[in-house]
Amino acid sequence: MDLVIKNGTVVTSENTSIADIYVKDGKIAAILDKDQSFDFAEKNPVSKVIDASGKLVMPGGVDVHTHLDMPFMGTSSVDDFESGTISAIYGGVTSIIDYAIPEKNQSLIECLNIWHKKAKAKAYVDYGFHMSVVPPVEKVLDELKELVDSGITSIKCFFAYKNALMINDESFIQLLKKAKESGILVCVHAEDGEVIDLLTKKFIAENKTEPHYHALSRPAEFEEKSVEKILNFAESEDASIYFVHISTKSAIEKINKSKMRGVKVLIETCPQYLLLTDELYLKPNFEGAKYVMSPPLRSKKHLYGLVSALKQGQIDVIATDHCSFNFGVEKQLGKDCFAKIPNGIPGLETRMPLIFKKMVVEEGISLSDFVKINCTTPAKIFGLTSKGDIKIGYDADIVIWDATCRSKIKAANLHHKVDYNPYEGFESAGKIETVLLRGNVIMDNGNLVINSPSGKFIKREKIISNGFIL
Ligand code: URP
Ligand code: ZN
Ligand code: ZN
Repeated sequence: MDLVIKNGTVVTSENTSIADIYVKDGKIAAILDKDQSFDFAEKNPVSKVIDASGKLVMPGGVDVHTHLDMPFMGTSSVDDFESGTISAIYGGVTSIIDYAIPEKNQSLIECLNIWHKKAKAKAYVDYGFHMSVVPPVEKVLDELKELVDSGITSIKCFFAYKNALMINDESFIQLLKKAKESGILVCVHAEDGEVIDLLTKKFIAENKTEPHYHALSRPAEFEEKSVEKILNFAESEDASIYFVHISTKSAIEKINKSKMRGVKVLIETCPQYLLLTDELYLKPNFEGAKYVMSPPLRSKKHLYGLVSALKQGQIDVIATDHCSFNFGVEKQLGKDCFAKIPNGIPGLETRMPLIFKKMVVEEGISLSDFVKINCTTPAKIFGLTSKGDIKIGYDADIVIWDATCRSKIKAANLHHKVDYNPYEGFESAGKIETVLLRGNVIMDNGNLVINSPSGKFIKREKIISNGFIL
């Protein structure tokens, strides 16, 4: 055996127990209690022992929604695959799926090659890509099969960002049909780009240009309405849908009703919608821009609704939507008008410690549920078949946490490249001490211990069959 992690409190998606985890050739080879472990070690000499007494031993985090090094709104997201994935490790994350976004009229395969170049030899954690499908959609429908053959089995489309990324209803239905045939899962950004465009123009005409008009131009009801429309399309095509970054209680309620009718639908939300609310847009000195993202932060009513839905098992995934911009540089593009503030916030490094504090410590969800929502379910949904859990045969992507530790989030102590953090001063729970990626220790005692990136591209298998997630 190459390594054993001894005496830790091992948390899987199914249970929590004191156990020893044996690793060989980058895979989990055995998970044994004390007595079994004694016998096993006698017959299987072990090269390295990590003592995890008193610590939680969990699967590496899986963040299935990031935007690294992405051209967007006249600039580029600041964290690239190097800084983004280093900050991921400090946040206990060992796999990401990043959204490739083609330029207008660019072929999907050409875009995919560009994303491979961005990530190769830069990523410190394992990675896959989703492909965004932007207008003109009809031109790229025939590329979906090749996309699947290249290991890209999920696509995203946007009902937002009019005149840039926004899809229309007719193209969306065509895409749903073609994706279903090809075994691709369709991820959807559900807002109403037409309404947003109208309200944005109205506010600008009235000289209402401060950051909080970003939120006012994207009303909560229009997430619900958009979700409803998309669910109807999915139902009539018998297709599966994955809603990204759901931000409202009312959208969850609509989705729950449709699930009862048998619609195949999955829900992602993000830490920002579970922890932050829309009054932050009113911060003085343009600081509201730090929270400009789409969909925007919502009222307390929605935040409480999402927390409660999560506790009832109605939310499948927490992902970050990490899309970072400096407050002092890129966010200033919108100094004179909210519509020009690049949309997005950082999150890769803070997701797990903040959600541990909020959902495990304060709201009392089980450790296994924490693992499910941050690791196992996202890996399962997106076909990362050897990631997201502690099971024999799975990749030894393992994080050792000191769960007793409490600390305050400070941008200056984080490892992404941007100059602020939306959670500045928030208390987080759990210190990530040791991180293994495919059996190699990449973080030890809270410090990165590798000098060069070792993340690998994960070629994913088809994840849909006859409209159902496999
Ligand atoms: O504000 C956000 N969410 N920026 C990234 C692009 C997107 O819509 O996911
Ligand atoms: Zn989006
Ligand atoms: Zn996003």
